Amino acid sequence: MNQEFLTPKQQELIQKVRELSKTYILPNAAKWDRDQIYPWEIVQALQAEKLMGVWIPEKYGGLGLGVFELCLLVEELSRHCGGVGVAYAVNALGSFPILLGGTEEQKQEWLPPIARGEKLISFGLSEKISGSDAGSMITKAIKEGDEYVLYGEKKWNTNGGAATIYTIYATTDPNRGHRGVSAFLLEKGHPNFEIGYMEDKMGIRTVSVHELYLNGARVPADRLLGGKEGTGFANAMMTLDRARPGVAAQALGLAQGALDLTIEYLTKHSGEFPKSYTYEDGQFFPDEWESAPKSSEQAIQFRLAELATKIEAARHLVYTAAKLIDAGAKNISQISAMCKLFATDTAMEVTSECMSLWGIEGCLRDHPIEKYYRDAKITQIYEGTNQIQRLVIARNLLRSFSA
Ligand code: CAA
Repeated sequence: MNQEFLTPKQQELIQKVRELSKTYILPNAAKWDRDQIYPWEIVQALQAEKLMGVWIPEKYGGLGLGVFELCLLVEELSRHCGGVGVAYAVNALGSFPILLGGTEEQKQEWLPPIARGEKLISFGLSEKISGSDAGSMITKAIKEGDEYVLYGEKKWNTNGGAATIYTIYATTDPNRGHRGVSAFLLEKGHPNFEIGYMEDKMGIRTVSVHELYLNGARVPADRLLGGKEGTGFANAMMTLDRARPGVAAQALGLAQGALDLTIEYLTKHSGEFPKSYTYEDGQFFPDEWESAPKSSEQAIQFRLAELATKIEAARHLVYTAAKLIDAGAKNISQISAMCKLFATDTAMEVTSECMSLWGIEGCLRDHPIEKYYRDAKITQIYEGTNQIQRLVIARNLLRSFSA
């Protein structure tokens, strides 16, 4: 892809992450995936390069860049391993709630260690019976004096166990539905807050996904995000609007990585193609064969052209969404949902098609194409299923016409 429109700083960041990926991800990705090992080596390398909080403002210790740079880095990491891409991106998902809704004291206390990479953060919204309908959560926080006591279970917590800080959503007023949802900041090791069952997943196996158990965890009132009850649902929605381009960038990296690997294979490996034909009874019969790179077949070239075009289209949507967010655009829900929908569906199509182009080899366990395919599937599901993205897009479209 031609990236000449990127600034020298952005190109430098990508180059740095590319080098780190080659050093730390490439030799380890298959092992991390097989044994579900958290990718600490690359996380620590990113920490050492001060790249863990590129989206966090400088006054809180970050690089003061934006969602666009976050997406560039997630894309690059995911070209090498989708699990590492999300392990990185989830720190944005977890820290956006603080950036968007935290008090100044909370920002000063919680953001600098995340920006420095000393602490990873995770996002606790979903529950066993509350996924797409996020407002129906039953985890509750009961006010007792100047503390809140939290009871319930959280599900699908990405980076669970590895993260030190957890943004937890709980209802402080069940009678008010989504308007009763509040957000809290908890730390690993807090009494009665347990990192529970670890999922055994099909893809993104290097990143840990856990259940979280709140068995009467008492937190001081200053852990209530923004210091105000009932603001949690809108905070979660605004967070997801800003985080979904990160999932789209993960999908983009997976699609690009799978296509690059496939093109390399098709240009380096030969197939037998008919050199001359005899025409008989209305049919062509090959009478001489020759060896040529698989990529010389026009049917394959046309397919590669279609896949590359879709990736490029997805890239433009992701970059546009990220830039609109960074520009402070008013309504970002629609474009954010669109880029997530399109890029993740593209990743699924590209990785599946690349597997077909590799033939049976691509279906073997531990084959990089098989991993790209497995890693891609979840991107259509988490941070809002693609059905939810369609719902968000449609609601915004209809609203703009009825306004
Ligand atoms: N920004 C700000 N506020 C918003 C908003 C937005 N984008 N979207 C909705 N709201 C507000 C509305 O204004 C409304 O406010 P009022 O009550 O004051 O009027 C309120 O939220 C409710 O809005 P809706 O009626 O539209 O809510 P809904 O319940 O019908 O639908 C939904 C909302 C879009 C379906 C939402 O529930 C949703 O996004 N669901 C998917 C959740 C999700 O993505 N979960 C993934 C979690 S992360 C994960 O997967 C794991 C991981 O670690 C990676």
